Amino acid sequence: MSLAKSVCCSLSLACALAAAPPAAIEARIDQLLARMTLDEKIGQMSQGTALGSPVSERSRQQIKEGRWGSYLNTIKFEDRAEAQRIALKESRLGIPLIFGRDVIHGYRTVLPIPLAQAATWDPDLVEQGARVAAREASSVGIHWTFAPMIDIARDPRWGRISEGMGEDPYLASAFAAAMVRGFQGPSLDGAGSVAACAKHYVGYGAVEGGREYNSAWIPEILLRDLYLPPFQAARDAGVATFMSAFEDLNGVPATGNEFTLRQILRGEWHFDGFVVSDYNSVGELVAHGYAADHSDAAFKAVHAGLDMEMGTSDYYDHLKALVEAGKVDVKLIDESVRNILRIKFRLGLFDKPVPASADASALLAPASLEVAKRLAAESAVLLKNEGGALPLAKSIGKLAVIGPLADSARDQMGCWTIDGKSGEVRTFLAAIREKLGADHVLYAPGVKTPRDTSHDGFPAALEAARAADAVVLFIGEDWNMDGEARSRAFLDLPGAQAALVKELAATGKPIIEVMEAGRPLTFQETAAEAKAVLYVWNPGTMGGPAVADLLFGDAVPSGKLTVSFPRTVGQIPIYYAHLNTGRPASPKDLGIPPGTPVNPRGFLSKYIDVDFTPEYPFGFGLSYTTFEYSNLRLSAPAIPLGGKLTVAADVANTGRYEADEVVQLYVRDLFASVSRPVRELKGFRRVRLKPGEKRSVEFTLATADLAFHNTRMQLVTEPGRFQVWIAPDSDHGLQGEFKVTE
Ligand code: NOJ
Repeated sequence: MSLAKSVCCSLSLACALAAAPPAAIEARIDQLLARMTLDEKIGQMSQGTALGSPVSERSRQQIKEGRWGSYLNTIKFEDRAEAQRIALKESRLGIPLIFGRDVIHGYRTVLPIPLAQAATWDPDLVEQGARVAAREASSVGIHWTFAPMIDIARDPRWGRISEGMGEDPYLASAFAAAMVRGFQGPSLDGAGSVAACAKHYVGYGAVEGGREYNSAWIPEILLRDLYLPPFQAARDAGVATFMSAFEDLNGVPATGNEFTLRQILRGEWHFDGFVVSDYNSVGELVAHGYAADHSDAAFKAVHAGLDMEMGTSDYYDHLKALVEAGKVDVKLIDESVRNILRIKFRLGLFDKPVPASADASALLAPASLEVAKRLAAESAVLLKNEGGALPLAKSIGKLAVIGPLADSARDQMGCWTIDGKSGEVRTFLAAIREKLGADHVLYAPGVKTPRDTSHDGFPAALEAARAADAVVLFIGEDWNMDGEARSRAFLDLPGAQAALVKELAATGKPIIEVMEAGRPLTFQETAAEAKAVLYVWNPGTMGGPAVADLLFGDAVPSGKLTVSFPRTVGQIPIYYAHLNTGRPASPKDLGIPPGTPVNPRGFLSKYIDVDFTPEYPFGFGLSYTTFEYSNLRLSAPAIPLGGKLTVAADVANTGRYEADEVVQLYVRDLFASVSRPVRELKGFRRVRLKPGEKRSVEFTLATADLAFHNTRMQLVTEPGRFQVWIAPDSDHGLQGEFKVTE
């Protein structure tokens, strides 16, 4: 598949190349391969980490010799430009470097964390966000971002759940494609585009116990139905690269996994970009016990189809000897180099002049900040709003703003923001002061940081609460508690925060909790003390103004969860698309107080010391207005295999605020050759409704949308009975039924 241009540009060489058919690129690669030494080829397959700033003498020499094909996480534009100039002008074959960087959720304009972005259920907006990140990153000479991260995660103990899109493959696929489109733009070599990287391929979100870097055991059916679809969607959207994951998958590390890298990615999906390892993951094949030594690690990785090594230098240290000893066929090396060069050509790196300076105007542009603000506003999920406690009146006399996260720019940015600057973040406190006037705001953090266990700040916080008409409390996790290597075994509020909430509640003042965290937390007791709970994740640079708008009704919450929130860690993994089991529990079994064992009753699939349901289900999120669903209509009671069905319902805004509702389509295959989930998301739509407005929301369901992998790994739709819902979340909705016939 070619990413060649659909939009014509000026008469640059790059444009001529882009307009050329893929065969022209392949011919240029052939010419280069014919001239490259084995060392130069292996150099292309190696990524450097130590360029130096300014570029060190050693790096200059190495670039001239073609020692590296890429550099990771270099810091300054000037260094990248200088290194690229050397590669293009002073290396023997003039092969450009590709500079990769972790631009995960924004570059200088920090967007909400990906898990938050997913809560928007708004792929168009998420695409715009990725475009903002790409424009900013490419303006400083970055060619390649290590995003999107599209690992399905059903375990909030795993810290990296914050970097992904949640628990559902349909939704994650939509966002994977949106992000790839946003990063790569209409053409890879166009202005403001960077190559995207679908990571971490594959199954990393299933690490046992949610413990980082742990092993994943995933039956092939689940691999194909749950973990692979977002990657396939990224591939279908034209993603330029993949990154292999750290974990071992069914006993074979993902970085040396021929089945996933060669058979599925190349054989079944015909991916023609390149695959980079994760940091050190080639070398780690030894620690996994999958390779005898580092030479064996290089051997296994290259055979599996891993094109570029990040971190360790096993390729550079051993591949040449392996080729010379006849153990590695040079054809494998050529294939990897071809994949890498293909992306460099598509990016236009061979032909584009290296810009003389970075384009500072691309950073923090007003339009980008607006996208960041919209993302932050749309991603906030209203979990509770007793008696319409929110929105607050702007005419409020005094508002106490309390909590360690009210004025913490760093925490607002969240994990993986290596380029965001705290000074550029608009904090919650600053935005509330701006909206209300500083005189109306009484600020006392209560505790210094989320993990602070001291109660020393409580008296000042209580005094502020007593003097105020309402309390807005910013609590949660600090930014450094989620992301890579931040697995938790407890998901409750850290430090003295819960104690602070308790004491504040005792003042009798209405409490609005704004939760900032990179994962679902378990916080029932604190939520019970509050009148309203707004989950804002880590909302980024514009989180302050976005949340202030939501608190005071200038915007209405519309985010919906893309992960189920457990009541307690012991319920994990808990997700909406579970199988029914032979002994499903029923609503009659609900009402068990968490942590209090009741007398066992019945032999059903549940717990005796907590409800079997989540605290907040997938798809859930409240609004300031109310929506009513009615009149479910199916275009036919039965459709033949290969046919299509229209499912529609009326959605009315029955409240007082104009607002967006995320309308969701679910199905259940009632009987099949493999047990099917009790519900599966098959569509969603964000609709804006004025008070009193009613609209018909319509979905088309093809029988192919009902397909799953059977025990022979065939993708099939089996005739039979299906339930269908148009719903506000995974736990409610209007239900209908249809048949699929032969
Ligand atoms: C390790 C992380 O797992 C990966 O997501 C990241 O892109 C690389 N390091 C590069 O920093």
